[in-house]
Amino acid sequence: MRSWAGIIERYRPYLDLPEGASPVSLYEGNTPLIPLPPLASSLGALEFWVKFEGLNPTGSFKDRGMTTAVTEAAARGARAVICASTGNTAASAAAYAARAGLRCVVLLPAGNVAAGKLAGARAHGAEVIQIQGSFDRALDLVLELAERRPIQLVNSLNPYRLEGQKTAAFEICEALGSAPDWLTLPVGNAGNITAHWMGFRQFESEKGTGLPKLLGVQAEGAAPLVHGRAVPHPETIASAIRIGRPVRGEQALQAAGESGGRIVAVTDHAILAAQRDLARLGLWVEPASAAGLAGLRSEVEAGRLSLLGQRVVCVCTGHGLKDPVTDGELAPPIPADAGALEEALQA
Ligand code: F0G
Repeated sequence: MRSWAGIIERYRPYLDLPEGASPVSLYEGNTPLIPLPPLASSLGALEFWVKFEGLNPTGSFKDRGMTTAVTEAAARGARAVICASTGNTAASAAAYAARAGLRCVVLLPAGNVAAGKLAGARAHGAEVIQIQGSFDRALDLVLELAERRPIQLVNSLNPYRLEGQKTAAFEICEALGSAPDWLTLPVGNAGNITAHWMGFRQFESEKGTGLPKLLGVQAEGAAPLVHGRAVPHPETIASAIRIGRPVRGEQALQAAGESGGRIVAVTDHAILAAQRDLARLGLWVEPASAAGLAGLRSEVEAGRLSLLGQRVVCVCTGHGLKDPVTDGELAPPIPADAGALEEALQA
């Protein structure tokens, strides 16, 4: 029996990769599409699924794009890779670079990266450089450095990142038999929505699987694509998408527009409520990953969107374990006896 060996093995004929490049894979992809009937009914949709990208090897969708970007870099003889990151890209780049035996340098906005992401990057042996500045500034610096030195950029400006990330759309079409009516996902640097649209369009032209409408979702305090201008000091609880100048912003707006969808902004409060609701249904995702659901909800509640009879997929991009924040205090420990346990159990 042939088991799953990653997205390059699975989709090679559909990917623009150098011929003969040997895949650098951690067996990413093949993530589940999980039906959530309670959310279908609360949104008035026919069906609702979560594509749980947090179940990739390093806990986020970035692994799909990193297997292709690092495969291409290694095939060309690169010795080192570099990225700026709000955390997930860094952890993923570090893991795939380790797999390929490459040096990995990551630039992070100091104090603004979730613990699980930073720990991952360090565990895999990346050289972690924190800057006193934002993600956007880190990306400027990395772009400039990659021009001057023989070090391969693996941010989503690298086209091979999108090649890999588009495979999430392939998997969704295969699992459902066709594209859903709506697909919602968070938007930060805007590579992922761009990649999904590439994937859906490619499968539509090769297999006639149809096209979804795309709802991209930014956080209100970091919503340059909604407000039509760069945000110099982006602010949101969803640190993964705390980005003020998305490099693929134009393409994202074009993708959403062409699809008949749009890009909207939601409050941090709505993001946290969506995160909690998913967790209470068994799916723990990081805050940014709940933005898609929050966006759908706010559109439905405001009467701007009806999902009646619609099949909806919500891409949850990263695992809750990456950014383990819980609210409230735990009750203090009880004496280790049966009586105290009885007392502590709330009827
Ligand atoms: N969700 C999560 C969990 C992310 O980490 C990111 C981006 C996004 C959504 C947005 O995807 O940038 O393609 O629009 N994280 C990047 C990083 C910026 O450095 O890890 P996008």
